[in-house]
Amino acid sequence: MASKKIEKSLNDQVANEADSSQYYLAMASWAETQGLNGIAEFLYKHSDEERMHMLKLVRFINERGGHAIVPKLDQPPKTFNSIRTIFENLLTHEIRVTNEINGIVDQCLKEKDYTTHNFIQWFVSEQMEEEALARLILDKLNLIGDDKGGLYLFDRDIATLSVESVGAGGG
Ligand code: FEO
Repeated sequence: MASKKIEKSLNDQVANEADSSQYYLAMASWAETQGLNGIAEFLYKHSDEERMHMLKLVRFINERGGHAIVPKLDQPPKTFNSIRTIFENLLTHEIRVTNEINGIVDQCLKEKDYTTHNFIQWFVSEQMEEEALARLILDKLNLIGDDKGGLYLFDRDIATLSVESVGAGGG
């Protein structure tokens, strides 16, 4: 059984993952209205992955005898300035999530909760890969600059990019 403090941190993380899912869903919907269907597809998929992360935490908390709390959701932004803004926001958001995950790791070590520590390692690797993917996308967007043709090709090719394609351990 995890301590109440760790259960609280895990529940906070449930809320963070739900928030990420909602945020990326808003990005996906906006990109779709801009005719950027490849980018929208990528973001819809990313939003689904965040929901899976949330479920992983919910199931773990309950399996350990705690009570996972389904959080209230905040309204994410409706519009975004540009595709670049979206991926900059995404990277900033993921860096924040990484820090929160690291906080849980730290707490597990302090409380000698090796079971939760072991469980949370999956998230540590996932964060490394997600950050690497966001940086890779921003590098590509930098190369494209204001070139509309480049954005067209990027929108077509982003469908093949995923956390898996960046490779374990990131780049
Ligand atoms: Fe669930 Fe994007 O980390």
